Amino acid sequence: MLDIAIRNAEIVTAGDRIHAEIGIRQGRIVAIAENVGLARQDIDAKGLLVLPGGIDAHVHLEQPQGGGVVMADGFESGTRSAAAGGNTTVMPFALQQKGQSLREAVDAYHAAAKDKCYVDTSFHLIITDPTPQVLGQELPAMVKAGYTSFKVFMTYDDMVLNDRELLDVFDVARREKAMVMVHAEGYDAIKYMARRLEEAGKTAPYYHAESRPQSVEREATHRAISHAELTDVPITIVHVSGRDPMEQIQWAKKRGMNVYAETCPQYIALTADDLKGLNMDFEGAKYVCSPPPRDLDSQKAIWEGLRDGTFDIFSSDHCPFRFEDEKGKDVPGARTNFKWVPNGIPGVETRLPILFSEGVSKRLISIERFVELTATNPAKLFGLYPRKGTIAVGADADFTFWDPEREVTISQSLMHHDCDYTPYEGLAVKGWPVRTILRGETIAQEGDVLGAPTDGEYLERGTSRAFGN
Ligand code: URP
Ligand code: ZN
Ligand code: ZN
Ligand code: ZN
Repeated sequence: MLDIAIRNAEIVTAGDRIHAEIGIRQGRIVAIAENVGLARQDIDAKGLLVLPGGIDAHVHLEQPQGGGVVMADGFESGTRSAAAGGNTTVMPFALQQKGQSLREAVDAYHAAAKDKCYVDTSFHLIITDPTPQVLGQELPAMVKAGYTSFKVFMTYDDMVLNDRELLDVFDVARREKAMVMVHAEGYDAIKYMARRLEEAGKTAPYYHAESRPQSVEREATHRAISHAELTDVPITIVHVSGRDPMEQIQWAKKRGMNVYAETCPQYIALTADDLKGLNMDFEGAKYVCSPPPRDLDSQKAIWEGLRDGTFDIFSSDHCPFRFEDEKGKDVPGARTNFKWVPNGIPGVETRLPILFSEGVSKRLISIERFVELTATNPAKLFGLYPRKGTIAVGADADFTFWDPEREVTISQSLMHHDCDYTPYEGLAVKGWPVRTILRGETIAQEGDVLGAPTDGEYLERGTSRAFGN
């Protein structure tokens, strides 16, 4: 006897689309067949697509910030929002603060997450202080303990690594078989541009975008790729915003390099014009993220990349700050200068609907490709496959039931995050996640989060498929 049978399922994976039933026992898929037999509970999926639960491999929750700013979402509200948006796994970042050991950083982050997760989680590390001790002992120990990916930054005062440090981290990643995620924007070029703009009195949120044009991202992307070539390590370039950095990634991929790439909803649904707000006012701060959204030609380029394989994963880069009380408060002149606006926007709940609507409903990408970008490839790239990221016997029973016909206008009133706005307010989408199932349990349905904040498990990860295992 099964615990659960999903009947009338139109199952979509990265490779296929089949009509079948799914049998579940103890939170795992034990059968996929025309008829899986009797179960204690039947779930009817008639008229809906059954997809693997979404995996958002790039979210920031409760990440310590400089300047007294607090992130709008901790684990509880962030994973609640993720569940409502069709996700069953999210991967936030355990930030190493300067002077901190990796163990301290990870332990503090686990403490923050404890009993506060509606979905499964697994942590990347952010390396900001690659001392000999960190590189020689701590990082290898962390990889062995299942923290098999880390992010490095080529910009931001409190996080930037210089080229030598990048190379040292890459070298550890090669030896330990860890995936490095690179934030590719050039620190000095941004500093130069920001000073020039400030001297000209151009300080509105919009000038955040002008302070870091595509050339800045292109240069850093190329530099990261060259360093990866030198150290012979796979890397993932995260949050790629447009054609220029894409060309660098395509160049690397054509040469057979193990370079992977991520893009995000803001680069298909927003442009730099959104940062202008109503009339170059502070409203534009709602769209400040890095790299900034570009223009319509860049959006077109991103779509080409989502189709042709330039991009491997599609993540939200959910990084929420409250508009009302956190946009640089306590800083003199904060509300008039883009340099004080914390970088990042919310999006974990809207990632899947935006890509589905703009991509699948408008026939720019197939539904199988949608699954690949949003669940299967993230699982493969970060060592969660095949337990996560697909629908197969032996995998966790994580599903998103998708109504491809449902029309919804995105609005803050629908969101489950603790941010006080959504940058996608008013965006009409077709296709919506109507039920989220985590290891057999329905954790969200029709906009209601039904699970508990103790449902999410912490996932220890294996090695990225990028290492050919
Ligand atoms: O502006 C952004 N994206 N903030 C989040 C941190 C990061 O760089 O991903
Ligand atoms: Zn970043
Ligand atoms: Zn990010
Ligand atoms: Zn529960």
